[in-house]
Amino acid sequence: MPAENSDELLQVAEKIAREAGALIRSRMPQSREVGTKANAVDLVTDTDRAADALISARIAEAFPDHDRLTEESGGTPAADTSGICWVVDPLDGTVNFAHGVPQFAVSIAAVQGFTPGDDLAALWGGKTLVGVVYDPMRDELFSASHDGPARLNKESIVTAKGAALDEALVATGFPYDRRERAAEYLEDWHRILPRCRDLRRAGAAALDLVWVAMGRVDAYWERGLQPWDIAAGALIARRAGALSTNFSGEDLFLDAREVLVAPGPVHEELRGLLLPQEGEAE
Ligand code: IPD
Ligand code: CA
Ligand code: CA
Repeated sequence: MPAENSDELLQVAEKIAREAGALIRSRMPQSREVGTKANAVDLVTDTDRAADALISARIAEAFPDHDRLTEESGGTPAADTSGICWVVDPLDGTVNFAHGVPQFAVSIAAVQGFTPGDDLAALWGGKTLVGVVYDPMRDELFSASHDGPARLNKESIVTAKGAALDEALVATGFPYDRRERAAEYLEDWHRILPRCRDLRRAGAAALDLVWVAMGRVDAYWERGLQPWDIAAGALIARRAGALSTNFSGEDLFLDAREVLVAPGPVHEELRGLLLPQEGEAE
């Protein structure tokens, strides 16, 4: 068992998220160096890399025996691992940031029972101990530990309870293979748009998740997500009372890289409208 308790992990994660958030915010008005990764719509900026380097260095200083899996540096196992791995998206919402849209966040989670280098699916056998999502433009810090309440700037938050899908504001996103699989993603919109109050594609998965947690939106779904997009936000949403599952309703929701997060009744209605994944029985 790790020597650190959740409070200590959370304190460090919050401090690092605020520091990285301040760095990102300070670089907002500057001209940004924008490059691409997997394809022409998968962007990375010098600020993604700077925030990744800062967070990685701070985690290594605080917990030299913890592993790291970060979006821009990949997996970095500790020499003498304690069995805790930090899963980090240094800047979630890069396309927004690169265009000057103030909707992005830092996402930091500590997961027990996963070593980077394992098949990523094994991560979801792991247990997320703590998660922090920091929105530097609104100065909103969302956090939770596996055994505590979800919080926004220290106040407890709970997910919206009442809405049926008919009255729900629903968030979603498009993964980076959107040019190849646009028809599949638009099929979801085609099914869901006529059944809800409205849809939002705000551009930062971590914020979509914590906005469900605090009731700013009523539900969120997306396909093709990565561990660092959701490790922190999904824990926060779950601790705020939302169901966090894959489209089959299973708790280990990331092995299929699809996520559906909502309070019970809306969750059930949406699940019925989302198409089965490729290869699954119809
Ligand atoms: C992306 C954002 C976006 C979501 C994509 C993610 P990034 O993360 O969260 O909202 O739709 O699936 O990859 O690349 O900005 O960290
Ligand atoms: Ca992301
Ligand atoms: Ca990112």
